[in-house]
Amino acid sequence: MKKLDMLYEGKAKRVYNTDVEDVLIVDYKDDATAFNGLKKGTIVGKGVINNKMSNHVFRLLEKEGVPTHYIEELSDRETAVKKVAIVPLEVIVRNVSAGSFAKKLGMEEGIRFIAPTLEFSYKDDALGDPMINDYYAIAIGVATREEIDIISKYAFKVNDVLCKYFAGIGIELIDYKIEFGRYKGQIILADEISPDTCRLWDIVTHEKLDKDRFRRDLGNVEDAYQEVFKRLGIN
Ligand code: TMP
Repeated sequence: MKKLDMLYEGKAKRVYNTDVEDVLIVDYKDDATAFNGLKKGTIVGKGVINNKMSNHVFRLLEKEGVPTHYIEELSDRETAVKKVAIVPLEVIVRNVSAGSFAKKLGMEEGIRFIAPTLEFSYKDDALGDPMINDYYAIAIGVATREEIDIISKYAFKVNDVLCKYFAGIGIELIDYKIEFGRYKGQIILADEISPDTCRLWDIVTHEKLDKDRFRRDLGNVEDAYQEVFKRLGIN
């Protein structure tokens, strides 16, 4: 497969066209941003870890019946993926209070919920990704009721699979953000699942092993990403 011209450069990834129809190559960078790009930095080695972790998790999810865009890992930082049309929703699932949820509800972080939550943000940088509900999404035409129902079903399936998987490697899955795309008439999981897009806490010490270390200037950012990578047992 030949890597052709760059199609898109995001905050953490570059996406390239290829000579194969409906196949793109994603190239993961070490660049990190937070607060809608206001805070900028580098997390050395992040691109390699996020690429390999996301691929590992997507392969696991495929086995468990969640269709994904993953095709093949091409190198440390590059992966071939199906070319989807992204549904412009950030789909967020939470198991434990943290981040914007804790702030909004005046709740301390670390309280386990009675049941997981599901929320949507409309992907629009100029608006700061506002939180919307399913009716807003349908009203403005970003997804149909059928698509929202499939997305919700997969979002909770991802939660079941990943909570168990991470618990097995001593990590508590606090919350995460996923994205979906349309591919040949189907909804499939796209984008990435990594310490950039999840809150991952050590199950015993509750130490933060994710991008909150960068967002909140907690230090040892690279160490946290390396620790998660080590526990995944991949290389
Ligand atoms: P929040 O508590 O800030 O709303 O974040 C919820 C989850 O979504 C958390 O795991 C971090 C992830 N997330 C992203 O992946 N991208 C983003 O731009 C934001 C704000 C959060």
